[in-house]
This record gives sequence, C-alpha cells and structure tokens, in this order.
Amino acid sequence: MATTSADATSSTSTDDLHIRSTVVSDGAAMWTLAHECGLDLNSSYAYLVFAADFSATCRIALLDGEPVGYVLGYSPPERGDHVFVWQVAVSSRARGRGLARRMLDHLLDGHPEGTVLEATVEESNEASRALFAAVARARGGTLTWTDGVLAEHFPDEHPSEPRLQITGMGRPS
Ligand SMILES: CC(C)(COP(=O)(O)OP(=O)(O)OC[C@H]1O[C@@H](n2cnc3c(N)ncnc32)[C@H](O)[C@@H]1OP(=O)(O)O)[C@@H](O)C(=O)NCCC(=O)NCCS
Repeated sequence: MATTSADATSSTSTDDLHIRSTVVSDGAAMWTLAHECGLDLNSSYAYLVFAADFSATCRIALLDGEPVGYVLGYSPPERGDHVFVWQVAVSSRARGRGLARRMLDHLLDGHPEGTVLEATVEESNEASRALFAAVARARGGTLTWTDGVLAEHFPDEHPSEPRLQITGMGRPS
C-alpha cells in the first residue's frame, strides 16, 4: 500500500482504493451510502455541510473511482482533542477488507490533535463494535464504555447508544 504523508488533505491509495478527506460534492454519496447501509439517515443537506465544513474529521473511500465508504465525524468544540465518529459506513460490496479501519486510521493520522476517539454504538451492532475494538488494539489504545445515549432520551423508538472512548492511541501497528 502506498501511503502519502498523513495530514488532513493527504490521500491513501492502493491500485484501486483511494481514501481522502471530504469536499462538499461528496455529501451526496455519503447520504446515498448511509441510506444503502441502513444507518439513521440525516438530511442530505446535513451530509453536504459535514463534507464541506468538517472535512478534517470526515473521510470518503473510493474504489475504482466509486464511493464505497465514509466516516462522518467532528471534534466537539469543548473537547478539541476528541474526535466523535458519528457514522462510519462501508458498502456491502467492499466490506471485510479493512476499509473502515483504514478510513479511521487515515482520519486519526491526518488529525493528530484528535487523541481521543469517541462513538456511540448499539449493543446489537457487532461489526461496529469489532471495528472500534480493532482500532483500539492496533493503536495500543484503551477502550472504555459509558451509558451514552439511553433509549429513553430518544423521541422515537430507538435502542440505547452506549458511548465508547479510546484513549492512549499511538500509530497503528
Ligand atoms: C461496520 C462497518 C463500517 C465495518 O466495515 P468494514 O470495512 O467491513 O470493516 P473492516 O474490514 O475495517 O473491519 C474492522 C474490524 O472489524 C471486524 N469486523 C468487521 N465486520 C464484522 C462483522 N460483521 N462481525 C464481526 N467482526 C467484524 C473485522 O474482522 C476487523 O477486525 P480485525 O482487524 O480484528 O480483523 C460495516 O459493516 C458497515 O458499514 N455496516 C453498516 C453500517 C454500520 O452499522 N455502521 C456503524 C455504525 S455508525
């Protein structure tokens, strides 16, 4: 794998796979992938705004030029050293080849001020839990869980979203 220097604007490419930070025109593909992957779907406008204004903490992956994955993230203003991963999605045709982990590695390597990774993950989402456990393991970090967002916080039917935090991360092994 050829890897360029790790700043927020760098890209990581193999022959057919390309990972980079987002631009506004990626928002439409992010929305489409969120829909395809069965995630809680935000408005299309929300993905456009994130792709444009939170590009330091958002990533898109292109396989043969086609969008196949994204990370939607932000740094909470009061916790600038944290990166909250709101959504991560990989098209079913590109799963199981380390793509989600590579997007998160690309984000963390390109955003070194983000030393703590946060996300909320439903208890039933084994793939997502395995992904974050793999990131913690590979980067020598410590993963802890707290209650996060409880089912009773939601205005609609929604399972609880326990919150994870990964601290003490280094470069991936
Ligand atoms: C979760 C998701 C992003 C993982 O994408 P992916 O590119 O297939 O994941 P990776 O190949 O990078 O795998 C990362 C780790 O998770 C593990 N993993 C991935 N999918 C798994 C699954 N279904 N069951 C168990 N472990 C799984 C991998 O084995 C790997 O661990 P390892 O490094 O120890 O071998 C993808 O399944 C997806 O888009 N799901 C639907 C959307 C979703 O639920 N997103 C998360 C909530 S926002």
